[in-house]
Amino acid sequence: MATINKNYLKLPGSYLFSDIAKKVKKFADANPEAEIIRLGIGDVTRPLAPAVIKALHAAVDEMGQAETFRGYAPDLGYEFLRDTIAREDFQKRGCDIAPDEIFVSDGAKCDCGNIQELFATDNRIAVCDPVYPVYVDSNVMAGRTGDYDPTTDRFGNVVYMTCSAENGFVPQLPEEKPDLIYLCFPNNPTGAVITKNELQKWVDYANENDCVILYDAAYEAFITEENIPHSIYECDGAKNCAVEFRSFSKTAGFTGLRLGFTVIPKDLTCKGEKLHPLWARRHGTKYNGAPYIVQRAGEAIYTPEGRAQIMEQIGYYRENAKIILEGLQSAGYTVSGGVNAPYIWLKCPDGMSSWQFFDHLLQKANVVGTPGVGFGPGGEGYFRLTAFGDRDKTAQAVERIKAL
Ligand SMILES: Cc1ncc(COP(=O)(O)O)c(C=O)c1O
Repeated sequence: MATINKNYLKLPGSYLFSDIAKKVKKFADANPEAEIIRLGIGDVTRPLAPAVIKALHAAVDEMGQAETFRGYAPDLGYEFLRDTIAREDFQKRGCDIAPDEIFVSDGAKCDCGNIQELFATDNRIAVCDPVYPVYVDSNVMAGRTGDYDPTTDRFGNVVYMTCSAENGFVPQLPEEKPDLIYLCFPNNPTGAVITKNELQKWVDYANENDCVILYDAAYEAFITEENIPHSIYECDGAKNCAVEFRSFSKTAGFTGLRLGFTVIPKDLTCKGEKLHPLWARRHGTKYNGAPYIVQRAGEAIYTPEGRAQIMEQIGYYRENAKIILEGLQSAGYTVSGGVNAPYIWLKCPDGMSSWQFFDHLLQKANVVGTPGVGFGPGGEGYFRLTAFGDRDKTAQAVERIKAL
């Protein structure tokens, strides 16, 4: 008799963005004249860069000719892309990462969700609170956590590392020793970043305590300030303890095209076992490679023309972030993030809870954001706005919030 994986039943029923969508739909149905501005889900709005479109067209044409047609892509990614990534994203920043330590995939979400398969189920994870939910949920599904406690909104057997205004939304090293540590900088949802010195402490901690850091750098392209590391491999010893996830989604607007990669250094071992061949084995067994045309499109963002175009796109979102950040600051809100990240994290005014502020903003300003508590109990009383919207609408949303 077939039975299900009961770990799935531990997950609380609804998903944050579907709850938001339901509330917005109800409001829109009742107020058809309201012009709702959505600064909630972190999806991009700018079209793909011309260099990307050109590369896609060229690759499509190749697929239409017998001589240049390509079938299955190599599981780990085409060499042309892995060589380019290793050189441009790592070696040029002084990080000694080789092309064969890069595993191309169709995005960071799957890799962040799947990486836990390499580790024993009795490993204990540490996550930030608030957190990008994929890290926790994928471990719940695998049976690596205890039950969900609705009173605390937390799962058992997880080390939660509180990120609050007191610690600048950067967690302290955990006192209770975990095995796997998920870190994400620039952070979703808080927009916080970590300095190189601070990140070095995590790398040292992981090496001293035999932990593995799972480092999500999906928003690396938004870093503007010096001394903020773009990669964990800028820290000494990171190749011995860290995996890094990257995504083309926010860097180059590939949310619909799908491309990302994971770096697993060959020096990274757990009790003497190398992780690299295990991930290669997993990739080979469960994944058949990102499409050729998409990998060619990814390569195009590293050309001088492509780079200039994606930097212009990122500049557009950065300007949106600045408009939100400065507008809300001028209206007396307590805000953070937005400088090295596309997310602005604001404290709900007048002691409102995250969902109270969500309703208030929707009803009074017709603006949709994301309640901070949706990312964990540490996000209660906070709210996330994204800089990925249209410029005019973003500015309009800020004016409406200021006028409340
Ligand atoms: C922190 C973080 N990691 C990973 C992802 C997923 O990226 P991708 O589109 O490459 O799957 C997101 C997307 O929102 C994210 O916020």
